[in-house]
Amino acid sequence: MTDETAILDRYGVMGHPVSHSKSPVIHTLFAEQTDQHLKYELLDVPRDKLDTAVRQFQRSGGRGLNITVPHKARVVRLVDELSEEASIAGAVNTLVIEPERIVGHNTDGVGLVRDLISNWDYSVGGKRILVLGAGGATQGILGPLLELSPEELVIANRNVDKAKALADHFGTLGEVRALKFGELRDGDTYDLIINATSAGLQGDTPPFPRNAIDRRSTACYDLAYALRTTPFIAWAQQMDAARTRSGWGMLIEQAAESFRLWRGVMPDTGPVLKQLPVT
Ligand code: ATR
Repeated sequence: MTDETAILDRYGVMGHPVSHSKSPVIHTLFAEQTDQHLKYELLDVPRDKLDTAVRQFQRSGGRGLNITVPHKARVVRLVDELSEEASIAGAVNTLVIEPERIVGHNTDGVGLVRDLISNWDYSVGGKRILVLGAGGATQGILGPLLELSPEELVIANRNVDKAKALADHFGTLGEVRALKFGELRDGDTYDLIINATSAGLQGDTPPFPRNAIDRRSTACYDLAYALRTTPFIAWAQQMDAARTRSGWGMLIEQAAESFRLWRGVMPDTGPVLKQLPVT
């Protein structure tokens, strides 16, 4: 059978909106590099159509999905089994699909940690970490970050009750405190500040906590990525943060882990990092 006539294994990303997603490009590069024959589609699915769309994809022989905004928490109810990471996070970004069974995974946290450690040479152990935001993105990264034994992890959010709920939930894994956004005191600086709010996506610049930055040492990481400098990174650079990085590397690393779960082969992220505007 030639490549043209072979039936390609189907994968895709489901979200809403999803047209901006770089996942098809990334997975196509991984497939070429590892000589895997597959097709990866963009699937724009509104909130109320998620259940039907996932079942339909399964019935038509689809092998795996990435799940993105706004479906990561909702899709948990649809799966037959959750990985440990997805269960701790309460959110799923990857589905491994078989005809009779769907397993939900969460590769976001692993993606962040690999980008920090392997691509950015940043070591989290013993560091003081401030996470801005308490939504689904924060849920996905707290478990893997706490596993690296930071000295302290503080979640700051506009709605402090959401931060407190996450601090309670993840408190069994390490020392986690919750603060209201903007409640940070003078001199309370952090080694690593991670922006996990969706404010930048809406073009908003919330009052990021300038007191939290120590010019000589604070590293600032934005889970968001964009072709231009993100508002959080622009702010961090203005504040003279020691180092800054946006979420391109995490995007590529979480995709690599999804690809490994689907195909049993770990792609080399290095060449793909070089092809995207990682800053
Ligand atoms: P995601 O799954 O991307 O995390 P989410 O669950 O809607 O999306 O969470 C978005 C996060 O960004 C929340 O922490 C939200 O703060 P609230 O919980 O107070 O709503 C935060 N966020 C969004 N826009 C913001 C803004 N303009 N200023 C501050 N925080 C903002």
